Amino acid sequence: MSGLFITLEGPEGAGKSTNREYLAERLRAQGITVVLTREPGGTPLAERIRELLLAPSDEQMAADTELLLVFAARAQHLAQVIRPALASGSVVLCDRFTDATYAYQGGGRGLSQERIAQLEQFVQADLRPDLTLVFDLPVEVGLARAAERGRLDRFEQEGLDFFNAVRHAYLNRAAAQPERYRIVDAAQSLTAVQEQIAQLLPQIVELHRG
Ligand SMILES: Nc1ncnc2c1ncn2[C@@H]1O[C@H](COP(=O)(O)OP(=O)(O)OP(=O)(O)O)[C@@H](O)[C@H]1O
Ligand SMILES: [Mg+2]
Repeated sequence: MSGLFITLEGPEGAGKSTNREYLAERLRAQGITVVLTREPGGTPLAERIRELLLAPSDEQMAADTELLLVFAARAQHLAQVIRPALASGSVVLCDRFTDATYAYQGGGRGLSQERIAQLEQFVQADLRPDLTLVFDLPVEVGLARAAERGRLDRFEQEGLDFFNAVRHAYLNRAAAQPERYRIVDAAQSLTAVQEQIAQLLPQIVELHRG
């Protein structure tokens, strides 16, 4: 049995982390081995790169620096966690992956899709997620949820224009490749969001069986 690579995407406060736990529980209940991880990060070294990316700083980080740090962390994460887990047949549930790079560094920062695609090919070769859940909601709703956690990170300090660009980049990618993406209406109550995820379970189990 080969592994299955599922990514959870969407802007701040969309419910990725909350629902990743829910999906993991449901899959484990069916006897499936699940590996939970996240980006940027997922290994000790990649988590240190995450800290560099998220920490507010007086020195403005150049957009290309941000892009390269994201992919440096990803290379480490792929080598240490994702590829081994997939090779052993696990379902990998990853909170953010390269769609987030297209959304934040592409949509948000305005870097070209082509440049991101070059790095994607360089770092990942042919590895792409098998399935991507995009948690979609009005940016104000997500930011309000995230704000309740307290201190804002370097991305959360961006304005509404940035997050609207992020949201639309996600939706455009999902629309261009509907077979790989499922849009979750994340503005609904948590129970209603979990029902949407529960409806995807048979497809996920089937994909994993191959
Ligand atoms: N459908 C929902 N309705 C109301 N509150 C929710 C819903 N889903 C999640 N929340 C709450 O919103 C907050 C953000 O959720 P969560 O941390 O899962 O989002 P996230 O997408 O992982 O955000 P981030 O990108 O900032 O990590 C949490 O306090 C969570 O309990
Ligand atoms: Mg989260």
